[in-house]
Amino acid sequence: MSLLRSRISRKPAPAPVETGGQGAVPRHIAIIMDGNGRWAKARRLPRLAGHRSGAEAVRRTLRAAGKLGIECVTLYAFSSENWKRPEEEIADLTGLMKQFLRSELDEIHEAGIRLKIIGDHHAFEPEAAAMVDAAVARTADNRASTLVVALNYGSQDELARAMRRLAEQVKAGTLAPSEITPEAIAAQLDTADLPPLDLLIRTSGEVRLSNFLLWQAAYAELYFTDTLWPDFDEAALVAAIESYARRERRYGGR
Ligand code: IPE
Ligand code: IPE
Ligand code: MG
Repeated sequence: MSLLRSRISRKPAPAPVETGGQGAVPRHIAIIMDGNGRWAKARRLPRLAGHRSGAEAVRRTLRAAGKLGIECVTLYAFSSENWKRPEEEIADLTGLMKQFLRSELDEIHEAGIRLKIIGDHHAFEPEAAAMVDAAVARTADNRASTLVVALNYGSQDELARAMRRLAEQVKAGTLAPSEITPEAIAAQLDTADLPPLDLLIRTSGEVRLSNFLLWQAAYAELYFTDTLWPDFDEAALVAAIESYARRERRYGGR
């Protein structure tokens, strides 16, 4: 049994296996939760059924990540490009988001999880946006771990907003162009207060980033699985983290 599996089952850990990799549990993982529509289609169900099952997968994954002691989990829930979808599907997704907060927020808060949003959720209908605001406020002082949800998020938009703020500072004379360093840019991103991204997972067999965390993924390990998001579970998360643990990160060194 591997170290991770034993941690999940809470049995005493065996001596760590020499893998040649770094062997650690990642501090920060991000997930592109894709494949809800295909999951539903394969069952001749409406797409909403896929999104509902996807919400169940979120629940399972958060519990598993908690057991593994992952400090920060970032979930891509709605991209800035997902507004291209039919109004009905957007309303379904918004409804599920509200339902998720109603049913899960108590457990999230009691587990000491801080909720943080990246992107701009104020583009959603007012009641949904207000529920998200309330959830963020309620969990703001929690310190056990962080759940980051990307809502109406696009990495290029995030970078453009960051650049605009830096440009304003240059215009105001409070920042010299030579001070626009990678660190200064990172400090303006929505993710500024988060640990560096270690592992980026995408489900459903698509091998692209779809405008997610482009800057933050510079030295993240990437993991692509054919599993559709509604089928993702604790075992799938452990498999991703075991793959991560076997890898050797070099950051350009040797
Ligand atoms: C991911 O599943 C959920 C969101 C993007 C909101 P999709 O709805 O993209 O499912 P597929 O890609 O059509 O299977
Ligand atoms: C990415 O999935 C966005 C989310 C998972 C929220 P999409 O299904 O929107 O991405 P594309 O269209 O396949 O690139
Ligand atoms: Mg998709």
